[in-house]
Amino acid sequence: MSTSPHEAAGSAAARQLLVVQGLSKQFGGLQAVADLDLDVREGEILGVIGPNGAGKSTTFNMIAGALEPSRGSLVFDGEDLTGLPAHAMAGRGIMRTFQHNKPFASMTVRENVMVGMHRRLKGSLWRVLLAGAGVVRAEREAVRRADELVAFVGLDEWRDADVDTLSFGQGRLLEIARALASEPRLILFDEPAAGLTPSECERLSDIIRQIAGRGIAVLLIEHDMRFLMGLADRMVVLNFGRKIAQGTPAEIRSDPAVVEAYLGDLGAMTDA
Ligand SMILES: Nc1ncnc2c1ncn2[C@@H]1O[C@H](COP(=O)(O)OP(=O)(O)OP(=O)(O)O)[C@@H](O)[C@H]1O
Ligand SMILES: [Mg+2]
Repeated sequence: MSTSPHEAAGSAAARQLLVVQGLSKQFGGLQAVADLDLDVREGEILGVIGPNGAGKSTTFNMIAGALEPSRGSLVFDGEDLTGLPAHAMAGRGIMRTFQHNKPFASMTVRENVMVGMHRRLKGSLWRVLLAGAGVVRAEREAVRRADELVAFVGLDEWRDADVDTLSFGQGRLLEIARALASEPRLILFDEPAAGLTPSECERLSDIIRQIAGRGIAVLLIEHDMRFLMGLADRMVVLNFGRKIAQGTPAEIRSDPAVVEAYLGDLGAMTDA
């Protein structure tokens, strides 16, 4: 078997980056997320699965600072970030992509990626360059980095295209480049494969693997079991807001609680 680029994540040497304990979210009478514990290491891909309404996106929203937890704690790189807003989370290096694309309209691909660089202000290359080297050089460096990211996701041919002209799948890739522009240390993907063609899915897999290979921690929600099981180092399964299982893809596939929660989707899981 060939070794994966993010294999270091499985070793004890990889540093724990995110530790979530007892995380809970209540919407009125609905317990959307209940007492959730999870942790992610640098360079690790942690898959999150569960039926519709299981609380996956709500969990991501809390980790990204879009929703304030009702209870629980969130420690990132040793710092308690519980309840901080999204811009503060982004400033620490926690970035998310959305279940639905949200590019900045009427801008080029490159410009969209450059906007992403502004998202992370604290300690950013952008600020250092502005302070030290003047605006023109900073601009040139920003363009160079944007182009690097555009190429990384395979959109170089569309670099100067208006984002409105991109296909759905290309929009997804752009969103990833934009998220990477902020130099995240943890990136949250909410159903990134949804709506993509099989070849786009393959490219997406490669990109996510390479992101983890750079030491970035990846949290990945995905309904497409085949896609997720081929990528994740470990998986967490949610059902009605609760974690019902955790383990390697092979362990998850044969976990009776998971099999029961999924019922109809069993075929898709055992095929993976
Ligand atoms: N802002 C909100 N206000 C009230 N209820 C909400 C809100 N956001 C989510 N919910 C509810 O919380 C529960 C969990 O929703 P969530 O979106 O986290 O599920 P999910 O696992 O991401 O589902 P899906 O697979 O369909 O994306 C659902 O019952 C949902 O209706
Ligand atoms: Mg969701």
